[in-house]
Amino acid sequence: MIGLTPDVCDSETLPLQMMHEMAKTSFITTAIDYTNSPPHVGHAYEKVLADVIARYHRLKGENVFFLTGVDQHGQKVQQSASKAGLPPAEFVKGITQKFIDLWKKLDVQYDDWAETISDRHKKVVQGILQRLFDEGQIYKDKQAGHYSVRQEQFLTDKERGPDGQFGPEWGQVEFREEENYYFKLGQYKEWLLHYLDSRGDAIVPDFRQKELRNAVERLTGDLCISRPKSRLDWGIELPFDKDFVTYVWFDALTNYISFAGYDPSQSTINTQPSTFRDKWPALQIIGKDVLVPAHGIYWLIMLHAIGFTDNEMPQLLVHGWWNVSGAKMSKSVGNIVDPFVLADKYSAGALRYYLMSDMTTGQDADFSEERLIERYNADLANSLGNLLNRTLNMAHRYRDGRVKTFQGVPLELRPEGNDEVFDLLTRCRIGLGRYGEDFMDMYSVSDGLKVPFSFVRGANFLIDYWQPWRLAKKAGEEERLSLLLFVLIESLRIVAILISPIMPKAAHGIFDQLNWKIELSGKEERFSLADAEWGRLPDGHVVGKPVPLFPRIETSG
Ligand code: MSP
Repeated sequence: MIGLTPDVCDSETLPLQMMHEMAKTSFITTAIDYTNSPPHVGHAYEKVLADVIARYHRLKGENVFFLTGVDQHGQKVQQSASKAGLPPAEFVKGITQKFIDLWKKLDVQYDDWAETISDRHKKVVQGILQRLFDEGQIYKDKQAGHYSVRQEQFLTDKERGPDGQFGPEWGQVEFREEENYYFKLGQYKEWLLHYLDSRGDAIVPDFRQKELRNAVERLTGDLCISRPKSRLDWGIELPFDKDFVTYVWFDALTNYISFAGYDPSQSTINTQPSTFRDKWPALQIIGKDVLVPAHGIYWLIMLHAIGFTDNEMPQLLVHGWWNVSGAKMSKSVGNIVDPFVLADKYSAGALRYYLMSDMTTGQDADFSEERLIERYNADLANSLGNLLNRTLNMAHRYRDGRVKTFQGVPLELRPEGNDEVFDLLTRCRIGLGRYGEDFMDMYSVSDGLKVPFSFVRGANFLIDYWQPWRLAKKAGEEERLSLLLFVLIESLRIVAILISPIMPKAAHGIFDQLNWKIELSGKEERFSLADAEWGRLPDGHVVGKPVPLFPRIETSG
């Protein structure tokens, strides 16, 4: 993981066991989803992306702590509950369950689950607020002005359109006078600018860091952190004034540390419990809409204000949006894409593959069911599924499933008299090196996926070129046929490892059929990046029989 933490130990001087004990955990978080309506495909994308990155780190042998969850307080939730005629606590329970069900269905394997109504979270939020209040960083003030009910915020003249009116995006606007509590956000502006200037990869991709920096330049004023209970009571009570609840961001953002063992009574990281120190800082995966101001300004400043140093700031990985025909998904437009329906129709693996391969991390993409089917049929059913099927069939037909292994580059398979086609497998092996460092470590999952699929293309090409059924009939070609089968099976073994973060079930399926590490069947330790090295298959290994893994999706059109 790209992090700022310096190496804590000198590997040359420490015994191996101690190094192991001191190995830091890779901590990965996502935004927590509002429980005002059920999950859509945008929520699914973010959690699958985080799951893929978490699985990739496990594949490298690292300890991983992957935290995700739900944002259960606030006005939006209170309003949706009242529309549904339910008390908020009951309403939230139902929607929360839908998120949990979806993550199970999509094989999103988190290590802990954040629910902001839980007691352990409440204690940390209140502990932090009390500390900031005692230090004079929170004060009470009266505000009067135009208030947007929809966006739950006071408006200033900056929000007026050219006609002097507040646009429709603000919904109903009314005049309000209200006392609230404020956090002294503005005083940290210079610090934040300095921090962003001193760390090039604070925000990934870097165009988002520039966008954030510009926004920080324009930062004025402090942050309102409360709502009077008379107006909103579905929230965490302020520890120093029982007539108020905490307003959304102070509550929601704190989840990243409250569920990681943070102790609010300790104002330096050094005095935090070791469970927390071992994990922090996190890689935080969020959508572009919650970078400015929430994560990029409020969160970084909150952390700084409660004692986190610059080296202890999290890295923010900002992804784009899934749109539908170029437009934002929204309930009112009626273009919400339901991930449950897609997973039931095409399988979790198909949906995970589409979401990961068809979006460049950081950019927007357009969701299309036709495209999902197209990619599934081309890449999974025709290329990978077909390779697995024909390879295992041929291995049994020609060699009773037994693999003879070979060393080095299989030059004997170099297509002759064809300058255009150079050694595909050598090329793939170079790709293998790039999979981690150039792609997955940089969160470029769609590029990372191209590596195993180039093996698949190369292997399929070799079958078509050498036509094993022809070699089998030709005297003197026995070695070449054995070599070809070895190359195909070895490629499939490596492909399974490389796709395992993205499609864990399919990877298990391939391993099962290859009869590989069968004693670890179903266990994630079955996959290790170190095993994705050419030539690890033992001589005489016997592969299993083929079972269709990716049945073609038939469309009526
Ligand atoms: N509850 C806040 C986040 C608090 S984090 C401390 C919130 N919730 S949300 O449900 O509206 O969004 C949750 C995440 O889903 C955000 O990162 C958001 O960017 C992401 N997505 C919501 N719609 C999306 C798409 N259409 N496409 C991709 N991701 C999108 O904001």
